[in-house]
Amino acid sequence: MAAPPGDKALQFNNGTTATERNRAVGQAITRLVIGNWKMHGKLATNQALLEALAAGSMSLSGQCHLGVCVPFPYLAQAQAQLQGSALSWGAQDVSAHLGGAYTGEVAAPMLADFGAQWVLVGHSERRAMHGEDSALVASKAQAALNAGITPVVCIGETLEQHDAGHTDAVIADQLAPVLALGPQALAKMVFAYEPVWAIGTGQSATPDQAQAVHATIRERLAAFDAADRPILYGGSVKADNAAGLLSMPDINGALVGGASLLAEEFLRIAAA
Ligand code: 13P
Repeated sequence: MAAPPGDKALQFNNGTTATERNRAVGQAITRLVIGNWKMHGKLATNQALLEALAAGSMSLSGQCHLGVCVPFPYLAQAQAQLQGSALSWGAQDVSAHLGGAYTGEVAAPMLADFGAQWVLVGHSERRAMHGEDSALVASKAQAALNAGITPVVCIGETLEQHDAGHTDAVIADQLAPVLALGPQALAKMVFAYEPVWAIGTGQSATPDQAQAVHATIRERLAAFDAADRPILYGGSVKADNAAGLLSMPDINGALVGGASLLAEEFLRIAAA
């Protein structure tokens, strides 16, 4: 096991601290930018968007990996159009159950049938509007892993929690059941820090604000040998603020809502 969370003073043999080491690990991670379409799309417009993104993602290869998380009905379209391209696809939610009498739910093996590489779990809109708690989010992450799909575990505090200075405590609570899945599971996950107050508001966290939270997330992951996992930032990421956010040492990419529906804007974020 690596350093316990918060033990920033711990020195390693070469004199670097845990924080410095984790940061160096973080900087070595290939950038990952994922679009969350939320409940947007239409067959005809999706086709043009996916075509443009697939073409644009070819010139990014190596420096950034690009993905899109589409509404369930469009997974077949994504699979048909994107197979063999550099653009990967996934879904925005998954059931914690493998199958059975769960009306309206979609199981992870079904997503795998459509070639999904990613699935968002614990997005704040699902936590807030569908009452999902962190234990359920962890179960969903495990269900995704069991089907060979990478869960993108979303965490983040509300404005009220932010203003009360509770960000770290909220993040710790949201992460706890996921961390309890253990290093083997964590080794295959992606994390996304999305402050709720920055989602869809046009008011992104500043690079310094986001970096500070990402660093504490990485410290917590390090305690479970998972310091090398990508940690994406989400919340009003646009082409004109992406470079500042993505230049921070512990920000390994972005989870993009509104701006991912515009091909040129999304590709500019990826290239920022
Ligand atoms: P916006 O980029 O529209 O703020 O949405 C962020 C988000 O919720 C991505 O999952």
